[in-house]
Amino acid sequence: MIQPPELYFNATAQSYLNNLNERLSFSKLFVLTDTNTSTKCLPALKELLGHSDFIEIICEAGELHKNIKTCSAIWSTLTEHRADRNALLVLLGGGVLTDMGAFAASCYKRGIRFLNIPTTLLAMVDASTGSKTGIDFEGLKNHIGLFSSPVATLIDQQFLKTLDQRNLKSGVAEMFKHGLIYNREHWKSLKEQHLNPEILIADSVAIKIDIVNQDPTERGLRKILNFGHTLGHAIETHFLETPQPLLHGEAIALGMILEAYLSHTCGSLAKEELDEITTTLCTFYELPALSDADRKSIVPLLQHDKKNAANTVQFVGLKQIGEALYDVLYSAEAIDDGFDYYNGITCR
Ligand code: GLY
Repeated sequence: MIQPPELYFNATAQSYLNNLNERLSFSKLFVLTDTNTSTKCLPALKELLGHSDFIEIICEAGELHKNIKTCSAIWSTLTEHRADRNALLVLLGGGVLTDMGAFAASCYKRGIRFLNIPTTLLAMVDASTGSKTGIDFEGLKNHIGLFSSPVATLIDQQFLKTLDQRNLKSGVAEMFKHGLIYNREHWKSLKEQHLNPEILIADSVAIKIDIVNQDPTERGLRKILNFGHTLGHAIETHFLETPQPLLHGEAIALGMILEAYLSHTCGSLAKEELDEITTTLCTFYELPALSDADRKSIVPLLQHDKKNAANTVQFVGLKQIGEALYDVLYSAEAIDDGFDYYNGITCR
């Protein structure tokens, strides 16, 4: 059974760190950072940890390094410093780092404890809760991984100050998604507050946790969290190989527009709601046009989606804003029409 992690926000997250050793009594403390969080976020963490000694493990930042080679380097450092089963690994970073660090911790000596300290909005509202861990493999996102929970997730919004506007907006995509699939009010609040999404973080996390608690290992309901991700992941993978990679949230925003279109043409989503979704996302994000060559590369990547079963590509559809369906199938023609719709959007 996957245990949901304890969750602490801001002042309570800070006091958790002030008393870390009393709380968790570890043998050795390791902090996994990347080349960004090592300079931008570690000084604040050091202050919160006070006198606790730790060994920093720095990895390269970015999706290109979310792989077995980086895990191998993490395991080598843990081994070199004789980390035993009672060691604690603190993960200080965005979704790439927390997914990968959690995977590395869960495999080392069959699992050591880890603590998530998300430093990006994306990681705060999505990656650092829900107990998914993983790395990319042979070009496929999160292809190798397991469910494993941190001892706690500490959300300290002071780290959002280290983000540029593009990265902050990337995180808002997952918040928009939570509203679209589960809570119309959250969607509406975000539309009003999108320049100040920080005030809605706890609400967004609560939506995710409510869904995950009903289906921790994604047998059914949890699949709705993948709205926009079936096409979005394929789009993200495709653009990763180009000179203009998209941020995760940007690819998911594009995926949500396409999947909202499919929910309208092949399902019950009303035209006015499709228009509302498209206009909101298109004006909030700078999204690229998709050429024929892009489409040709994106469509085959759908075959690798983790939700697939029996050679079909399974999507999440919207019944209406605030309510989603899973295991929905769309024809290749409908998907192609979706790309035409997207390229014809004028608000972009
Ligand atoms: N990011 C989707 C999930 O946690 O299920």
